Amino acid sequence: MPGTLALVSVLFSLLYITEGQTFNWGRCPDPPVQENFDVTKYVGKWYEIEKLPASFEKGICIQANYSLKENGKIKVINQELRSDGTINRIEGEAVQRDGEPAKLTVSFYWAMPSSPYWVLATDYENYSMVYSCTTFIWLFHIEYAWILSRTPQLQSETVERLKNLLRSYKIDTEKIRPTDQMNCPPEM
Ligand SMILES: *[C@@H]1O[C@H](CO)[C@@H](O)[C@H](O)[C@H]1NC(C)=O
Ligand SMILES: *[C@@H]1O[C@H](CO)[C@@H](O)[C@H](O)[C@H]1NC(C)=O
Repeated sequence: MPGTLALVSVLFSLLYITEGQTFNWGRCPDPPVQENFDVTKYVGKWYEIEKLPASFEKGICIQANYSLKENGKIKVINQELRSDGTINRIEGEAVQRDGEPAKLTVSFYWAMPSSPYWVLATDYENYSMVYSCTTFIWLFHIEYAWILSRTPQLQSETVERLKNLLRSYKIDTEKIRPTDQMNCPPEM
């Protein structure tokens, strides 16, 4: 029956686009974000410590460097070490939402949709908990989460506390995985 075929092909497309990322039914949750977020204290280098898998990030030694631009936007440089030994570097731009400074939007290429970058919690000097969720056709959402640190290692108590924070917002942390920051070339 054509109806069934259409449904099956929709389901297959969903499976395809959600491979390697976290897919959930329903709309995105709306967790509270860092109060009084100060982007001038947030800029600089961050190391990725743990994350919900993202198909666009397959490497190790993942780092971000944020800096302020003269136009008030934020320059984003992400770096990762690929399995073939090369360093993949991509540049993007982030903007803060009016009146909600901890809710940012990041875009990397003009052709790619921009994605939310919500700072749920940061002390600026040690850790940052970043959450990104997009709702598709009101039916399901795809979410990412990153635990970032100013140093390549972060105290496990802090990591646990941040995961507990996610859980308290009903965000599933079961698929969160550590990022290798031990075997990185010195130039990174
Ligand atoms: C971060 O990027 C800024 C702007 O491109 C640059 O001046 C700075 O040296 C970079 N910092 C690190 C740690 O890479
Ligand atoms: C960052 O962590 C260090 C070491 O645990 C601590 O002394 C410092 O107060 C922390 N910074 C902030 C802003 O909480």
